[in-house]
Order: sequence, then structure tokens, then C-alpha cells
Amino acid sequence: MHEFSPIGVFDSGYGGLTVLKAIRQKLPQYDYIYLGDNARTPYGTRSYETVLEYTLEAVKWLFNQNCHLIILACNTASSKALRTIQQEYLPRFDPSRRVLGVIRPTVEVINQFTKTKKVGVLGTIGTIKSNSYVIEINKLYPDIKVYQHACPMWVPLVEYNEFNNIGGEYFIQKDLNALLEKDKDIDSIILGCTHYPLLLHIIKKFIPPEIKIITQNEIVANSLAEYLIRHPEIEKKCTKNGTLKFYTTDDPNDFDEKSLIFFGQKINSEKILYKNKFFYKKTI
Ligand code: DGL
Repeated sequence: MHEFSPIGVFDSGYGGLTVLKAIRQKLPQYDYIYLGDNARTPYGTRSYETVLEYTLEAVKWLFNQNCHLIILACNTASSKALRTIQQEYLPRFDPSRRVLGVIRPTVEVINQFTKTKKVGVLGTIGTIKSNSYVIEINKLYPDIKVYQHACPMWVPLVEYNEFNNIGGEYFIQKDLNALLEKDKDIDSIILGCTHYPLLLHIIKKFIPPEIKIITQNEIVANSLAEYLIRHPEIEKKCTKNGTLKFYTTDDPNDFDEKSLIFFGQKINSEKILYKNKFFYKKTI
């Protein structure tokens, strides 16, 4: 028997629950621990330095919970903090641990969707400004042209449940038009944000049916499954009792309530407090 070691899944808030849901469906045997930084969400509008600082704190906390593998389910954290964590923090802290993101797995399969080689990306302001999708797609597929558009209204529309009405649809249509106006040959659109899959049914109303909408949750889950096969040295450290634990940096009651939207079932989360630049578990 080896020490309990769950796979850590981190997000700025609730959104990463959509990613965890798909991962758990694909790989139910592993133990998981989810951390949502709800006290400091959203990350999408914050600077590089801030997102890096917050994400690093979360990663350290998850390492302290004995995670050997962490998935940054948040696109904003993946685009702004992942590279620095992988290249600068991990080699110094513990080169045997791994932190993975959601952008690379999505980019890896984009060639399976586009025929015109013109791809649209929607995300938070932070993700779009970081140019991460453009950089990563250009590295793997230099013949693909990437068009981006930030949708700052979409996360609040999901969180306040204001998308199934005329007002919500107005913003969704406006942003989709802004992207599609950039090039009439865009044939695939990446939804590069944890929240956007929940808007899929509305997005489809405003997009011609021949344009493919790429949601990343299953893609990330499949990529993780393949990663674990390719890396038995990491896989064997991940314990397999099928357990699930949820932590939030804000009110657990709110978190549990919102989990219905993002995870499809009510959960029981625990609060961790943020103090003196470190998270600790509330004991009283
Ligand atoms: N989780 C974030 C993302 O995927 C969206 C919410 C936020 O801005 O914090 O980019």
C-alpha cells in the first residue's frame, strides 16, 4: 500500500468542475481533489503576475495534499501560469511532480476539426491577451491561422444563470459575430474557457451548422488517460480508490449550490482559508 495521492484539479472557481466531471467519467478509478479559488475569482480579467501568484499558491497547497499530478482546469491559469510553473517552479521544488494544463491537449487535436485551416478561439480577456492558443497552434500546425475574440460577459452570464434569456443571447450572438466577421472561412471554434460548454445550446443557435464547436472537457480527459499510459512513473503514484474531495477558498454552501450547474450533482465542499500567503484548512 502506498500513500494516498489524489490527482489535483484546480480552477479559479466552479468552472473546472466541468473538466473534472469529464475526467472522472473517463477515469473513475483514481482519487481526485478539486480546489476552486472562489474567493479570488475571476482570473480572466487579472494580470499575468496575479494569476501566476494565485495559481502557484493553489499548486503548493495541492502538493501539500500529496498530489503528484495536478491539472490546471482553468484556461486562464493554463495560459498565464503553467509555463512558468513547469519551467521555473517545478525543477526547483520537486522535479518528480507534474502540473498539466488544458490548452495543449486541445491544440493537439485541432487539425482533426479544421479543413479550411482557419480556427476561431473564444476565451476570457486573460486567455486571449496571452496569445497562448495562437502560440501553441502555430508551434504544432504552422499552416493553421488563428482568430481570437474575448468574451468577458460569458462567465458572469453562466455564473448568474442569465444566459437563457434575450439579454444573455444578445451578448453571446454579438461575440460570435465579432469572431466570425474576422474571416468568413473560419470552420472550427475552440471554446477556450471552463464555462463556455454550458452555453453550447445557445452558441449553436447563432452559428451555421457546418462550423464545428470544440469543447475541451472530453479532449482533456482523453489526453489525461493517454498521458497516464505514457507515464507509468506518475501513474503508479496516483492512488485508486475512486474518491472525490472538494475544497473552495470561499463559502462552501455557495460552492455546493453552484456545483449543480457545473458538476451536475450536489457536492459537499470544505473551505480552506487564505492567510499569510498560504492556504490552510479551517479546523474550527
Ligand atoms: N476558469 C476560467 C477560465 O477557464 C474562467 C473563470 C475566470 O475568469 O476565472 O478561463
